[in-house]
Amino acid sequence: MILSIESSCDDSSIAITKIDTRELIYHRKISQEEEHSKYGGVVPELASRLHAIALPEILEETKVYFPELKAIAVTNQPGLGVTLLEGISMAKTLSTFLNIPLIAVHHLKAHIYSLFIEKDSITPLLVLLISGGHTQIIKVLSFNKMEILATTIDDSVGESFDKVAKMMGLGYPGGIIIENFAKYGDDNKFDFPVPLRNSPLIAFSLSGLKNAVRLQIEKCKDSNGNLSKEDINNISASFQKAIKLHLLQKSRKIFEKESIKDFAIVGGASANLYIRDGYKDLCKKYDKEIHSVELKYCSDNSAMVGRYAIDAYLRNQFIKIEDLNIMATKKKQNGDLL
Ligand code: KG4
Ligand code: ZN
Repeated sequence: MILSIESSCDDSSIAITKIDTRELIYHRKISQEEEHSKYGGVVPELASRLHAIALPEILEETKVYFPELKAIAVTNQPGLGVTLLEGISMAKTLSTFLNIPLIAVHHLKAHIYSLFIEKDSITPLLVLLISGGHTQIIKVLSFNKMEILATTIDDSVGESFDKVAKMMGLGYPGGIIIENFAKYGDDNKFDFPVPLRNSPLIAFSLSGLKNAVRLQIEKCKDSNGNLSKEDINNISASFQKAIKLHLLQKSRKIFEKESIKDFAIVGGASANLYIRDGYKDLCKKYDKEIHSVELKYCSDNSAMVGRYAIDAYLRNQFIKIEDLNIMATKKKQNGDLL
């Protein structure tokens, strides 16, 4: 079995996965959303302190599996430095104490592997990854070859949902909140610009849209600075529609060039059913088979870290204790490997 740890942002999570059958034996996650909600976003130092309490609490429950562990896996990039360190130091302690090797896990690759929890992996595969920190389309050719086909030049999808929710005073995380208000709104009410609509660039950009939404929110506010329920619903629906059209438009350009048959959506924002529906139609049109992640594994979790770690373990991809550290991740461009 492999014990895997995730602490890259505001979720503390530990899983135990069986190497030969890929069975997920144990998985628990403690989210800090409530604690960060009043600040409208994640406060790194607070997150780090909360991991230091939550991770040992979860670890306590996994002690019965210690004699059967063959490796410890931990997320080491990308993420918040102070929170990654909490997981990494726990992983190093366990590896030393149990005398078993360490596996370093790239958080975005783990999101891709969330598709394969308790399942076989699929390659080649085109993946849209939409999370709080990233928006990318990735061509997954093999375990070691994942190429970036498109990335964002400014904000990410999840981040823009969070910021728009914050502008309307709706709390954090914004994705599910906006999706829920949007269900009661008219997505044609406000004509927000679809980013890079007339640009040949195969890239994403969300900051212009966010500013257009900000201006509309200011216009809709009454003399006390409040928004009506109807405005909140309509702004949410129209904003979400512009994001969906943007993602679909750029994905279509890639679908026209890439013949790979399998396509998947992963990452926290892939839990958005309105966006998923848009992709179902697009995939039908381009004769692609669509795959998505079980809703409970879309946001950060250690089950996906464990699933990735099985494939790393079978390839003997271990890291020395002195080499395991937080990794500064360089900004990637199209054509770079993940
Ligand atoms: O993957 P994730 O848990 O963490 C990162 O790796 O960043 O993604 C978190 C992000 C947050 O920005 C959150 O607002 C967004 O995913 N999210 C959603 C939805 N559920 C979560 N965005 C849009 N619609 C949703 N239903
Ligand atoms: Zn994530």
